[in-house]
Amino acid sequence: MSKLTGKTAIVTGATSGIGRATALLFAEEGASLVLTGRRRERGKAVEAECRQRGARAVFVEADHTQSADCVRVVTSALREFHQIDILFNNAGIVTQGTAESASEADWAATLALNVTAVWRMCRLVIPEMRKVGGGVIVNNASDWAVVGGKGALPYAASKGAVASMTKSMALDHAHENIRVNAVCPGDTFVERWLEKGYFEGSSPVTLEAAQAESAAYLPMKRFGRPEEIARAVLFLASEDSSFVTGHLLLVDGGNTAQ
Ligand SMILES: NC(=O)c1ccc[n+]([C@@H]2O[C@H](COP(=O)([O-])OP(=O)(O)OC[C@H]3O[C@@H](n4cnc5c(N)ncnc54)[C@H](OP(=O)(O)O)[C@@H]3O)[C@@H](O)[C@H]2O)c1
Repeated sequence: MSKLTGKTAIVTGATSGIGRATALLFAEEGASLVLTGRRRERGKAVEAECRQRGARAVFVEADHTQSADCVRVVTSALREFHQIDILFNNAGIVTQGTAESASEADWAATLALNVTAVWRMCRLVIPEMRKVGGGVIVNNASDWAVVGGKGALPYAASKGAVASMTKSMALDHAHENIRVNAVCPGDTFVERWLEKGYFEGSSPVTLEAAQAESAAYLPMKRFGRPEEIARAVLFLASEDSSFVTGHLLLVDGGNTAQ
């Protein structure tokens, strides 16, 4: 028996990176999947990859900064699969800047997706989880939720808020068998990193250049892989973590142990 057989999971931001890797692993573990993101072509491709693994999967094109889109994701999940057992709040953006240099627009955009959308999705799924006797929420925070993030103030602030929401929701809903945890990845290589302009002042980066840079500061001398974060998310989403709630699970190759 697979770890998620009979479960329905929503994975937000499943079109690439950690979200895609988690969707594929959940598919292998027997979950029915609702996948979201703004890039339709990529979402349909991940939907197909999940189906190839034997899972029922549906991609719902959605911008999670829009309240109506969040509602549509949840109603689509209920229409397709009739219940929601797992929510992986993964969609997120990274923005740069210090207190002085961060722009109003970046601050607003970062909090709208990384914080407000997480709350919105939780608010929508918790009543559905209650109806089926419980559920699991996993929020994607960051190692910068627990230590400072140099030069990325809006992002670090947003992930600190995710950590705080995770613990608060865990307390609010523990009595109704709804567990709420966060995965806190360290630097994890995703293809987005190769996009022009992703790193302030150095664009585009190559994988080789990024790896060389990482060796200078990461204990394991390498970045994480999306699949390694996905396995931690599976642990938190499955019965393997049945007595774990309000936890921030660092998956950072020891970076924050330094
Ligand atoms: N990679 C790392 O080193 C690292 C470290 C710590 C935490 N994280 C967290 O991991 C999560 C996933 O990031 P990633 O590294 O896997 O990068 P990614 O490949 O860029 O994934 C981000 C996902 O979020 C989606 N997204 C962005 N804006 C959205 C919006 N407005 N509405 C709906 N979906 C949206 C993207 O899909 P569309 O573009 O199709 O909308 C994409 O699927 C984020 O929360 C990030 O903060 C990553």
